[in-house]
Amino acid sequence: MTHTSVLLTSEQIQDRIRSLAAEIERGYPEGDEIHLVAVLKGGFMFMADLVRAMSERVTMDFMAVSSYGKGTSSSGQVRVLKDLDSVLEQRHIILVEDIVDTGLTLHYLQDMLRARAPKSIRSACLLSKPSRRKVDVKVDYIGFTIEDHFVVGYGLDYAAKYRNLSYIAILEQ
Ligand code: IMP
Ligand code: MG
Repeated sequence: MTHTSVLLTSEQIQDRIRSLAAEIERGYPEGDEIHLVAVLKGGFMFMADLVRAMSERVTMDFMAVSSYGKGTSSSGQVRVLKDLDSVLEQRHIILVEDIVDTGLTLHYLQDMLRARAPKSIRSACLLSKPSRRKVDVKVDYIGFTIEDHFVVGYGLDYAAKYRNLSYIAILEQ
């Protein structure tokens, strides 16, 4: 039996996403298209709420990378399971991730997508655990900075469970 305690309520998350969406919109020239790339599976819920808080100039795509499996610590290995369908050349790209922990995943993906010659590339992560960072990675938009807890919900899983929670909880093991 695992126990959880609420860290961020659904209301807190939605409020923060609305301000993030406005901040993102302000950061690009008016009329320019913004192409959001969500990292599956964890990023799906953040992506869904973020794009609904943004204007019509948004387009989106999805990619899937390997996760931790059943453990709770990074292997440092990033494997692309599903690549993008869209071309990134000359487009404004925002990588949308659930959480930046060691930073290894995001760092790898930024390098990989930068090689495809986008007009710009930024990253938006709902959560950040700075105390766990192993590589120095730039995150342009952060929803919440949190302490070193293993969290679940709102897209984040533990052993494939809890992704469907509308809030974020600390998993106590
Ligand atoms: P990083 O490469 O260590 O930055 O980890 C990135 C990925 O690890 C995230 O996209 C998550 O899928 C997973 N992850 C890291 N911390 C947590 C957590 O607290 N709960 C659930 N998944 C996590
Ligand atoms: Mg993830």
